[in-house]
Amino acid sequence: MTIRVRLIVQTVFLQVISLLLLAYGVFAVQRGLGRRDMARAETQIRLAVARTANDALIQRDQVQLLSYLNFLKVEYPALTYARTVWRDGSRTATQSLGAAPAGARVVERRVLVSDPTSARRSVEVLFGVNQDVLQESVRETQHRVVKIMALVGAVTALIGLLLAILLSRSLTDSLTALGHMAEQISEGRLGVHLEWKSEDEIGALVRVFNNMSARLADLDVSKKNFVSSVTHELRSPLGAIESFLPLIREKVAAGDRESLALSREYLDRIEANVQRLNRFITDLLDVAKIEQGKMECVIRRMDLPPIAAEVAQFFEAKAKAQGVAIENAIGALPPVLGDGDRVRQVLVNLIANALKFTPAGGRIRLSAEQVREEGGKVVEVTVADSGRGMDDADRRRLFQPFTQGRNVAEGVSGPKGTGLGLYIVKSIVDQHGGRIGVESTPGRGTLITFSLRVAV
Ligand SMILES: Nc1ncnc2c1ncn2[C@@H]1O[C@H](COP(=O)(O)OP(=O)(O)OP(=O)(O)O)[C@@H](O)[C@H]1O
Ligand SMILES: [Mg+2]
Repeated sequence: MTIRVRLIVQTVFLQVISLLLLAYGVFAVQRGLGRRDMARAETQIRLAVARTANDALIQRDQVQLLSYLNFLKVEYPALTYARTVWRDGSRTATQSLGAAPAGARVVERRVLVSDPTSARRSVEVLFGVNQDVLQESVRETQHRVVKIMALVGAVTALIGLLLAILLSRSLTDSLTALGHMAEQISEGRLGVHLEWKSEDEIGALVRVFNNMSARLADLDVSKKNFVSSVTHELRSPLGAIESFLPLIREKVAAGDRESLALSREYLDRIEANVQRLNRFITDLLDVAKIEQGKMECVIRRMDLPPIAAEVAQFFEAKAKAQGVAIENAIGALPPVLGDGDRVRQVLVNLIANALKFTPAGGRIRLSAEQVREEGGKVVEVTVADSGRGMDDADRRRLFQPFTQGRNVAEGVSGPKGTGLGLYIVKSIVDQHGGRIGVESTPGRGTLITFSLRVAV
């Protein structure tokens, strides 16, 4: 049974139950009222008969009593018969009027009236009250109530059914649309979007689905980019090594001084490519550790300036060859809390990025200062470059793994990379309990700052 049918059946079932309960309640009240009405009608007849007997006794007119009782029979159809017994001393006279209809439920009542002036004189009236006639009027009211109840029930059932259909449709329509969307995603159509305008829970669910679909599409693009960058990062150094090896063999076989010098130069290039491969594989291993939560930093008291000087020096030759000036403005600083190797890795990544995105004639500046924050004192280290910068969209995705900015496609100096550097950098800074922030303007440059706690 579909949800729609189930909802409709349940709603109608509930409605029928509540109508039956309501009808039962109304009938119970109606029965009580009916009994009270019957008793009241009977009392009215009794009072009328007593009044008539009294008047006749005062007039001492037996004929008048009979004709009055005749009037009452017309006025009260429940009054079926009457027998009068006049007593005056030892004399008794009896008269009767009408008879009980056959098969009718007739109850006999009695009224005795005595003359206040003479205790010997009295009149007794025995009269029959037809219970079926009394009940007739009550039954009529009950029939009217049944009719009204049936009408109200039918109308409410119809409205309820319509509402149940509308409600179930609005619910199942959204579920069907979401199911269709999920099916499309499972078939590989990532990034599909469902248009749904409502602020309720369904609207919120659709928004979550849309975000999920967009995120899956993003991840798919990242995966494709990653596969192509990994392939490139593995193939290009391996290709270079492969092409230099026969050249070296050739030059060594020649054995002359010039050939040997050349073969040494080729060996240097092979070494550079092996280092590049090594760096890439180390990055991949680091990412695997981060994802498993197993990247550990041994945090101890350390001095930042010597590490900064070492890293700046390491990049100097490359920067010079690229026509970029590196300035290390990090002077004396208090000792910080950090893992020396990991802090070095952060600086290497940041300066490598700065070099990658800064064309010839540009500048890279390394600086640090001590600042006071809520949790204590920190040292803020900044790597600033005057390179191509990045736009807001690139900046928002900056620290996600395997994600590179669009500025990579604009052409960078050296290998393109795989989009792992800043993800690793952020994880290291997080492990140190620090913060990392970026300011960047397209065409003007980038400034990346991270903080390390000052050792006390
Ligand atoms: N100094 C910078 N100037 C401009 N863009 C930058 C800079 N640093 C990072 N980016 C942007 O951030 C992206 C991610 O940087 P990240 O270091 O994580 O990856 P990558 O340098 O592209 O590759 P990898 O570091 O793995 O070799 C870069 O692709 C680039 O778009
Ligand atoms: Mg990088």
